[in-house]
Parts: sequence; C-alpha cells; structure tokens
Amino acid sequence: MSRFVPYSPSVEVIPDDEAETIDKIIQSMHRLSDRTQEQNRHAIRVSHAKSHGVAVGELVVSEALPPELRQGLFAKPGTYPVVVRLANVPGEIESDAVSTQRGLAVKIFGVEGEMLPGHAGEVTQDWVLDTGDRFAAPTAKAFLGIHSGLEHAPQVAEGVKEAVSKVSRATNVALHAIGVDSANMDFFGHPKIHPLAEAYFTQAAIRYGDYIAKLAVVPVSAAQRTLADQKLDTANDPDALKTATVDYLRQNDAVFEVRVQLCRDLDAMPVENANKEWKEDESPYRTVATLTLPRQDAYTETRRKYVDDELSFCVSHSLVAHRPLGSIMRARLQAYPVMSRHRRMANGGLLEEPRSIENVPA
Ligand code: HEM
Repeated sequence: MSRFVPYSPSVEVIPDDEAETIDKIIQSMHRLSDRTQEQNRHAIRVSHAKSHGVAVGELVVSEALPPELRQGLFAKPGTYPVVVRLANVPGEIESDAVSTQRGLAVKIFGVEGEMLPGHAGEVTQDWVLDTGDRFAAPTAKAFLGIHSGLEHAPQVAEGVKEAVSKVSRATNVALHAIGVDSANMDFFGHPKIHPLAEAYFTQAAIRYGDYIAKLAVVPVSAAQRTLADQKLDTANDPDALKTATVDYLRQNDAVFEVRVQLCRDLDAMPVENANKEWKEDESPYRTVATLTLPRQDAYTETRRKYVDDELSFCVSHSLVAHRPLGSIMRARLQAYPVMSRHRRMANGGLLEEPRSIENVPA
C-alpha cells in the first residue's frame, strides 16, 4: 500500500439527492442576499461580507520538496504575485463585537496548467480558507440545515448576537480547556485573536496532484507571534479587526507558511466528512511554500472597493490538480460562481477574472 492515498475520482461518493440539496442551499443564499442587499442598499457577499484587510504580496514555492509534495502548483519552485482578502464569516456587516470565525481568501496570479471547467484559459488559483481545521458541517445536507437558520441572521438584533457570541466564546474556552473539540461552537464564539496571528485552513479536502490533502496558511514571523496575546478592543471599536490588521501591516511584514497535510487513510481522514479532524499524528502539516505580505497600506479605499465589490475568490478558480473534493466542496463549487455573479451584477461590477496583479489597485 502507498504511504499516501492516491487521488482517483472514486474517492468522492455522491448521494442521489445531492443536486437537490445544493439547489436548496443556493435558494437559501439568494434569500439572505436579498435581505442584506435591501439593508445595505448594496450587494454584499452572502458569507464573509465584512472585510478587514485587502493586501498584496507574493507566494514562493519551496525548493527541493520531496516527490510526494512536488505536485500541481508546487511541482516546481517559483514566485507568484497574490492578492488576499481577510474577512469575518457572517454574510452581513456587523460590529466586530459579534465574534465569529474569520476567513483568508488568496488569489494567486500567473498560474499555468489545466484549469477546472468554467475557469479554462484563466491564470489564477484561489484558496478560500477559514480559521479552524475543519468545517462546522460534515456534508452539504447538514450545511443546508445550518444555512436555513443563518439566512434569518440579519433580522436578529446585533446586541443579541453579541451576547450569544460572548457565551459561546466562554463555553468554547472551557471546552478547549477540558480537551473537547468544538468546531461548531467556534463558528459562533471565536476567540478575539489578531487576524494576522491566526492560522487558516481549507477545512475540507482538495486534490493534491497524485494525492489528496488539506492545506493551511500559518503565521510564522516573530512579530506575528507577539500579536497572539494582543487584546482587540471590540467594545470601543466596531472595526477592531481592520484597525489591528492595518496597524500591523503599516509597520511590519506578515509571513505565513503554506503547509499541506496528505491523506493517509480515507477512513481516518475522510473526504466526504468535512467535520472530521484529520489528526496531525496520522499525517503532519508540511511546509511547501511561503506567503509574504510586505508592509503596506492594507485597506486603501480604491483597493477595498475593487476587492470587495469586483473580485470573486472562488473555490472553482482552480487547477484540475487541486480540485476541491467531497460533499461540502461540491456544494461550494456550484454556490460561489452563482452567488458571486449575482453580487457583482447587482453592483454593476466587472465579471471577468483579472489576468494580472497589475489589475489590483494600490
Ligand atoms: C470549508 C468550508 C468553507 C470555507 C473555508 C469557506 C470560506 C469562505 C470565505 C473565506 C469566503 C470569502 C471569500 C472572499 O473573500 O471573496 C467565502 C465566501 C462565500 N462562501 Fe464559503 N466557505 C466554506 C463553506 C461554504 C459552503 C458550504 C458554501 C455553500 C455551499 C459557501 C458559500 C460561500 C459563498 C456563496 C460565498 C460568497 C461568494 C461571493 O459572493 O464572492 N461556503 N467562503
């Protein structure tokens, strides 16, 4: 047996009613989008609506990787320009006092190779990552249940959400302290950590060339490590995450390692259950590249407007070699293109994918 599970299309098992489930998710997202568009008089993302950093930088693929890690984008050393968007999870704009998980979306330019259908001829690879090493729901069907509740969130008063997230945060700390894992609780009560001190994960599996993997982007600079203990003043600053991100990047570079966890066993490290932890003692995350955001103004109004309104970070913007895998990813492959097109058309924005970092304003 191979040390790592080889990729083959048969690692995905598609339930008969999946198309219907995904349709229902997209309908629920349309209802949420209509609500928030009316509230904001502007179309915003149905998830991760509020950004707190829009930065440019570069990705450097490591040299001399072992053969099993030399796959897809990481097959040979190279340097690629990137634009990243850091954002809160909810599909609405609210005070950072409501603490939730956060996301990091990365668009890599100048990528060569066969792309997924719908992205053929393009030159970008997107990663759309969140804090936490696994997703709150195992499957699209379970996610539909969660989203059917979330679609009503914009009607709940902010004070109520703040109170819920405070309780969830306390419970979460208590659960972590006794070693119980709480991916679902974390979704609502994320600790108030500096966004540049966080690690971000694909949470669900992707193809990794000949193999299957999860991918993580992990902060590594000494300066970022000191941020982990920094208190974010969300009580007095509703945009505390943006303040913290912009303050740090005005003075310092942010450096992350891109790490890959290869699947060794489909039972212990399943593709079809995005809620199951892939244990690091079964297969550790290993570094394949470095992502650097040099010091800069990480929230100029022109760049923010471009990234928030005109760009779309989509899991379907991908090399075939890194196809997202499993039930949650198949739902994402359909939902992102539909919902991002809806958002951008509502705002009269561009629908083309950028071809160069030069398209991203300073
Ligand atoms: C592994 C689990 C997931 C992660 C890590 C994740 C992460 C993210 C992130 C970071 C964004 C913001 C992208 C940006 O800045 O442009 C986003 C947006 C979005 N997510 Fe997810 N998400 C997950 C699951 C899902 C699922 C299951 C669905 C639906 C089936 C979904 C649908 C969307 C949509 C429609 C957007 C907005 C797209 C746009 O308007 O540009 N996500 N997600």
